[in-house]
Amino acid sequence: MSEAPKLKIAVLASGSGSNLQAIIDEIACGILPAELRLVISDKPSAYALQRAQAANVPTKVLLPAEFAGREAYDAELARLLQAADVEAVALAGYMRLVTPTLLQAFPHRVLNIHPALLPSFPGLHAQRQAFEYGVKVAGCTVHFVDEGMDSGPIILQAPVPVLDTDDADSLAARILEQEHIIYPLALRLLAEGKLHIIGRKVYIDE
Ligand code: GAR
Repeated sequence: MSEAPKLKIAVLASGSGSNLQAIIDEIACGILPAELRLVISDKPSAYALQRAQAANVPTKVLLPAEFAGREAYDAELARLLQAADVEAVALAGYMRLVTPTLLQAFPHRVLNIHPALLPSFPGLHAQRQAFEYGVKVAGCTVHFVDEGMDSGPIILQAPVPVLDTDDADSLAARILEQEHIIYPLALRLLAEGKLHIIGRKVYIDE
């Protein structure tokens, strides 16, 4: 029996890369039918790069300072991703806003994980924003990326109750555990062709 084709993906990461690791692990154990072709970072010190190298995944650092602006940066990103035959791009702790140049190269194929229940608390330090606001339920969201900030169609969300004993760090740690579950799952649904965007809504096949 021939295997179903695997979705060729790339991950863009700026930091620790624990979401990248969750993706690597689920590919390795056969749950996520994907092939990780490339990991790109804007930060040479990102631990995500070491995680990729440990998994024998090619890496590339693109320094923003070496480009005239965000569009030029994203044009080079798109070129590298296309050269690696990538079909979908997962932003995982990638701390740059992407431009239409990248989105047009991968229409409805750029995903992001955000550590809040969007549309609440977009932007930086979302877990702390939610904690300080006093919400009783925090969480995380996987969404398609559009031209706004954390504003594209929502694929999956996971709620995380806020405990009286929490501080912002303990809450962020429990949110991250859920991120590691829903991000690979969203990518699996994409790989299996089960996601359909109609207007703002994402419908998921049974
Ligand atoms: C994650 O919590 C992710 O949701 C967040 O950065 C962290 C990266 O962790 N992303 C954003 O805040 C994007 N707006 P990781 O590098 O260990 O995956």
